[in-house]
Amino acid sequence: MSGETSEPGNMGRMNDPDGSAWVTGLCGDTMEMYLVIENGTVTDATFFTDGCGSSRACGAAAVALAKGKTVEEVLRISPADVADVAGVTSGNDIHCAILPVSTLHRALADYLVRSGRG
Ligand code: FES
Repeated sequence: MSGETSEPGNMGRMNDPDGSAWVTGLCGDTMEMYLVIENGTVTDATFFTDGCGSSRACGAAAVALAKGKTVEEVLRISPADVADVAGVTSGNDIHCAILPVSTLHRALADYLVRSGRG
């Protein structure tokens, strides 16, 4: 998890996030999330995945939804919210919205534990 890459749609790794996580989904794809949190609000977020096009779209949607929201608001982001924003509607791809939300919530948990709020 070193180095920083930058691609459109907030895809990239972050060197010194306040919270981060990576999760490997049942499909075998891995999602990483990196959060900058200031005064309880997500001020920056990026993701990285080796997954399919739908997982990239859903990762981008998840970080876009998280930015500017409080920790409590981010915890309410659901896979359905992400699928809506990403435009993922097919039954086969809908599971791709679950992976970034799981990763986002784990990154928040990492932040909460690290900051002594968890
Ligand atoms: Fe694995 Fe899309 S097939 S996240």
